[in-house]
Formats: sequence, C-alpha cells, structure tokens
Amino acid sequence: MDNINSILSLSPVMPVLTINKLDKVEYLFDALLEGGLKTVEITLRTSCALEVIEKISKEYPSLKIGAGTVLNNENLQSVKDAGATFAVSPGSTLSLGKKAIEMKIPFLPGISNSSDIMNLINLDYKFFKFFPAQAAGGIEYLKSLSGPFPEIMFCPTGGITQENANKWLSQKNVICVGGSWIVPSQINDYNEIRKRALLASNLSN
Ligand code: 3PG
Repeated sequence: MDNINSILSLSPVMPVLTINKLDKVEYLFDALLEGGLKTVEITLRTSCALEVIEKISKEYPSLKIGAGTVLNNENLQSVKDAGATFAVSPGSTLSLGKKAIEMKIPFLPGISNSSDIMNLINLDYKFFKFFPAQAAGGIEYLKSLSGPFPEIMFCPTGGITQENANKWLSQKNVICVGGSWIVPSQINDYNEIRKRALLASNLSN
C-alpha cells in the first residue's frame, strides 16, 4: 500500500477535479499526465465521480487517483471499491480517521484549526489538507500552526492559484498544494489544461 507521504511528495500540485461526464474523460487525464502531474483529487460532487475513479484507476496505473469530498464511512468504502489509491476529506472526524486505518486506505483528512489536528494525531495522522486555506487564515495561519505542530505537514487547498502557489510551497510545513485552477469547470480546451498542468508541475515543493 502507498502511504500518503509518498503520494503527496510526487507532485507539487494536486489538481482538484470536479468531472461532469464520463465521455472523453481520457483526454483530460492524458493532458494532466503530459503536463507532468502525478496525483489528482477527483471530488465526489458529481453523479459520475465513482465511475470516473473506476475507469481512470484501471486505465492510468501511473497516476495516483485520490477521491475527494469523502464525508463519511460509506463514501470511504465506495471510493476504495472503485479503486481509488487514496481518499481526501474536507474535514476530520475520528470515525473516518479510524475507518481509513481499518480499511488500509491512505487518507488525507481536512483541518482548519488546532482542534481538528488534535482529533487525529493520536491516531498517528501527520498529513492534512488545510481547507479552505485562504479563507481559513492563509499563509500566516498555516505558519502559526507549525509552532504547536512542528511535525505536521499540510496540503493547503482552497484559494490557491498558479500565482500564489509558490508562496505556499515555500512554507516548511507544506508538502504540496491542491486546487481547481488547472481544470476549471468552464474549460474544455485540453491544450490549455496541458499548459496549466506543465506550469503547475514545474513549481517546486
Ligand atoms: C476543494 O475542494 O479542495 C476546493 O474546492 C478547491 O478549492 P479552489 O477551487 O479554490 O481551488
């Protein structure tokens, strides 16, 4: 089993994808791979999300497929059954934290404050999604968290852009950043997506 540390270390940027149709979905993943990205978060916000995860996990073994917007144990089971390599949640509950360990699926819980982190460090979680990063306090807030939690690493998501990603990535407690800017819902131009992926994968973490 991959661990979350090695998965998140693969690329400086993890695109957050909300995919509305299964048709021609390969074009999107080809563009992301050609752009050099190796991890993705496919959110469970659309009715075809699980089918996309199932298809892409089979067809793109070199890509680490994360399932996002995992809100409860049932979601966790479905994404594991669909073949996701790892799961991501916007929040952290003890129940999800324990279930992911029991199911042996790498898991990135979401946090936005110290209490959220403390909920899960007793279960040995050391990697969290900081969400919604910009709205919850931005870089200054994240810097402050390194005081009480020097060993905890974050993937900030929410409000990250190509322009501000470098600032986030230069923080010592940031392992990678996540964001929807590489594949915004209104863009179907795969050349543009390839270009955005290339720019993102050339950032350094
Ligand atoms: C997420 O689910 O992680 C966010 O919706 C991504 O936030 P962004 O759209 O601001 O990148």
